[in-house]
Amino acid sequence: MEYTSLIIQCEVTMCGIFGTVLKQGKAVELITDGLKRLEYRGYDSIGVAMIDNGELHLRKDMGKLEEVIENLNINEMNGLVGMGHTRWATHGAPNMINAHPHLDGSGQIALVHNGVIENFMELKDELIEKDHNFVSRTDTEVIPHLIQEEMKADVGLKDAILRVLRRLKGSYAIVVVTSLEPDKIYCARHESPLVLGVSGEGTYCASDVPAMLPYTNKVNYLRNGELAVLDVDGYQIMKISDGSYVERGLEEITWSLEMAEKQGYQHYMLKEITEQPTSLRDGLRLQEQYIDLITQFLDRGKEVLLTAAGTSYHSCLAASYIFSKIARLTTYPVVSSEFIERYGSTVGIDSIVLTVSQSGETYDTLKAIDHARMKAATVLGITNTVGSTLTRVSRAYIVQQSGPEIGVAATKTFTSQVLVFAQLAMRLAKMRGKLSQDELDEFDENLHRVPDMVEEALARNDDRIKELAEKLKDDKLFLFLGRGISAATALEGRLKVLEITYVPSLAYPAGESKHGPISIVEDGVACIFICPRGDTHSHIIGSIMEMKARGAKIISICEEGDNDIIRLSDEVIEMPIGIPETLSPIPYIVPLQLLSYRLAVMKGLDPDMPRNLAKSVTVP
Ligand code: M6R
Repeated sequence: MEYTSLIIQCEVTMCGIFGTVLKQGKAVELITDGLKRLEYRGYDSIGVAMIDNGELHLRKDMGKLEEVIENLNINEMNGLVGMGHTRWATHGAPNMINAHPHLDGSGQIALVHNGVIENFMELKDELIEKDHNFVSRTDTEVIPHLIQEEMKADVGLKDAILRVLRRLKGSYAIVVVTSLEPDKIYCARHESPLVLGVSGEGTYCASDVPAMLPYTNKVNYLRNGELAVLDVDGYQIMKISDGSYVERGLEEITWSLEMAEKQGYQHYMLKEITEQPTSLRDGLRLQEQYIDLITQFLDRGKEVLLTAAGTSYHSCLAASYIFSKIARLTTYPVVSSEFIERYGSTVGIDSIVLTVSQSGETYDTLKAIDHARMKAATVLGITNTVGSTLTRVSRAYIVQQSGPEIGVAATKTFTSQVLVFAQLAMRLAKMRGKLSQDELDEFDENLHRVPDMVEEALARNDDRIKELAEKLKDDKLFLFLGRGISAATALEGRLKVLEITYVPSLAYPAGESKHGPISIVEDGVACIFICPRGDTHSHIIGSIMEMKARGAKIISICEEGDNDIIRLSDEVIEMPIGIPETLSPIPYIVPLQLLSYRLAVMKGLDPDMPRNLAKSVTVP
């Protein structure tokens, strides 16, 4: 069927890479050790390519790192030059064929890749025309074939690689090992991380510092648009655009190994909050055909139910506003543990159940969709985990491209889920003719500004949030309030504070507060208002005044220079100007994630592992 082939058409990866050129010893042992230190980046298969006596040798398979290393006797491979790759597929089933490294047609050029080649289909078609055969479903495999093709024009390897890199659209960190130049490694990056290192023993490249930290603490972070050539004495860096050489000194890393695994951050949660500009940029690189496919299902359904748990449910709630405002589609968000009781008797063949789960393994969510499938509903998924149960049971799914999230509190996965929903709503609006071309263009432009907005929100508020957390660290109660889509932001902010600081907190649509919650407000109670500019702005001012009149401490998150809000507030977190309300949950949740993190740390709690909670709740 049409959708099945689409699901498996493109393999995209979030992975770990390690390469080395050594003076003596067994490079493969450093490579497998380096890969183990990169396991946090996710893994479903691994592969290693070595140059031994001038020949290229390759071993790879799917499975757990330790098992594959042992089963394939990888540590017995010889050679001083080699590279390895641990892969975490974000589309399609992991298997041996799709595992990296990938080879060119001659079997002389091996390449590993972390990232997404957006134009791989057109490049592949072009190569097929020239009689190249492909064995995998990956976007990556086109790259070694392109290098092979370029070399036919009688240019050297370096120039062939430069020419190919100039043609790639998307993101990549690549490493090339080849018997054509058996003493060297070529590596390059564009928007996926790659770091170089040198020691007296050799030269290294890796996705991240921890992989090489046992061998050197002298590193050079490759920048976007740079190619590096490594040999046993060091490296040379050049710009991909014009081949000119780049001089940049080494940096000394002072982190411990444990700190390095968190890239110098004290906790995974802070690392993951800070990663959001990148995860959001990745979330904007979804393959068009997946968006189209899910949108077609949404368009056809008689009713659209959105189901999920915890943070993923909050993204569904935000989505219900986005679908309504942008695509004029009514959707029904429901927490998955309530799905069967609430809609179990009415869900049926005409229902679309769009299910969201970071892990793809949440018991309540899987139970809900089991029921929906039994009733012949169409189950669609949004997840961060390829190969999870959700991807197996969904008719079609989108992988949100957030990268592994290790902290128990969901942060970057929330913002990416909302971003995926916004893209679906935009596509549906276009399909249904609900927005003019100008409106669509404007929405698209705003969507693409979101990662920068988040970057700015993070940069400008770090110190401000620390200061605020200091003031709030002994508060015994928080009330989170927002109108419209900001009610979802309020709920998610509340969940963050609640789950990692254990401070009792409430969240309500602000208009609802006068129907009950206002009775708990007295002098000094902290009320956190989420106030983006937009349709709800004037209403939220009324809600703030109600709480202020009862002595509440008003903490507002609003646009920079929003004096209507600022003059009513005791504390303000100012956000970049120009975020449309429909997209506001993405940047506006960021200060609340940071605030909850700072509060937890000030209380001496471990935000990565809050009590009684698990990253994935797989029990009833
Ligand atoms: O993996 P899922 O998205 O299905 O997980 C759902 C919830 O368990 C999860 O969002 C949980 O609420 C988080 N700890 C929130 O930070």
